[in-house]
Amino acid sequence: MQYNFDEIIDRRDTGSVKWHYSDDTIPLWVADMDFKAALPILDSVQRVVDHGILGYTKPTDALYDAIINWHSNRYGLDLTQDNILFSPGVVPSLALMMQIFTETGDAVDAVLVNDPIYTPFMTKVKQNKRTLVMSALKEVDGKYQLDLKDIEAKIVEHKVKLYLLCNPHNPGGRVWTLSELKALLKLCKKHNVAIVSDEIHQDLTLSGHTFTPLLEVAEAEGYAHNVVSLTSMTKTFNIAGIKGSMIFAKNETLLKKISQQQHLNDEYELNLFAYTVMQSAYEKGGEWLEQVLAYIEKNIEIAIDFLAGHLPDIKVMRPEASYLIWLDCSAYGDNDQALYDKLRAAKVELNSGIKYGSEGHLKMRINVACPEALLREGLNRVYAAFSGEV
Ligand SMILES: Cc1ncc(COP(=O)(O)O)c(C=O)c1O
Repeated sequence: MQYNFDEIIDRRDTGSVKWHYSDDTIPLWVADMDFKAALPILDSVQRVVDHGILGYTKPTDALYDAIINWHSNRYGLDLTQDNILFSPGVVPSLALMMQIFTETGDAVDAVLVNDPIYTPFMTKVKQNKRTLVMSALKEVDGKYQLDLKDIEAKIVEHKVKLYLLCNPHNPGGRVWTLSELKALLKLCKKHNVAIVSDEIHQDLTLSGHTFTPLLEVAEAEGYAHNVVSLTSMTKTFNIAGIKGSMIFAKNETLLKKISQQQHLNDEYELNLFAYTVMQSAYEKGGEWLEQVLAYIEKNIEIAIDFLAGHLPDIKVMRPEASYLIWLDCSAYGDNDQALYDKLRAAKVELNSGIKYGSEGHLKMRINVACPEALLREGLNRVYAAFSGEV
């Protein structure tokens, strides 16, 4: 079937995090799309409602098969049921990984992240009283790169135990290549640093780029005992309100340790609707995903063309995955809060880059996963804000 992503659906007064305004502000911020979910997903929820019993639920073989087939068919990732654990979310899993790979105390608590980075990568480390070590991404020819020299120096200096990778990276949208992943893995192996790879944006990889699951590389390099990947159907299929995610690992001892800790925290199972939509999404959501990605690619072009034509001093980083575009707005101000406020005054909301670490100074992140008409009006307001019309 053909989905209509041009449809504007009123999300106000639904408890939506994105649409929290009392006025007519256009939200182009948090990573949530303004599109209806795929029909097979909605149908699967309806079937549960029609059945009428919402009792205790566990993952079925059919659900495991759906997860295994999706990852094998798309990425050649070879999983068995034993490799898969469930978690209420990728962010809760990031917190859990502190307990798995680090301890509190000197020389055992350092966690390295590359900024700018999705905020919980930093907050979860600090809230768990671990030492946060930052290695900034390098911008080369308008693209972020891992600074391997700096990463190695910091690993040694701070006795880093855990490296939190974001692949595809948020913000900036880099899809790390096989050779980049190999180099990183080699480095972590050399210094016995565990790697946790957040791959939640994997299925939103854009044309011309190839997503490689880190576990695949880790297995080939004999380092699977120190690698975990975290992913979810929620970002791919725009069902974040459902909550639910997976943890993948290949090593039996490591899986046992994670599972035990999950049971201790009582965080090992999902709700009935999460299991239900996870299965229907991976079994039958492919058609919707293909269409939404085409729509997103078109919106990315619209945004890039608009900004080049109207606000050429904004430096735009073209994403390789997802629908979030990273903008260097330093030509339009020298204060993060003032930049954000200027946009809010023009009734459009973007994410302030400084929330992703100091590398995000004077940057903004814009979400283009919305009906084209909304995006165009939102862009007009960005122009109004920065051209001084408001
Ligand atoms: C890189 C990354 N990880 C995790 C999440 C959120 O994951 P969850 O809702 O499963 O906690 C997001 C949401 O935007 C994200 O961008």
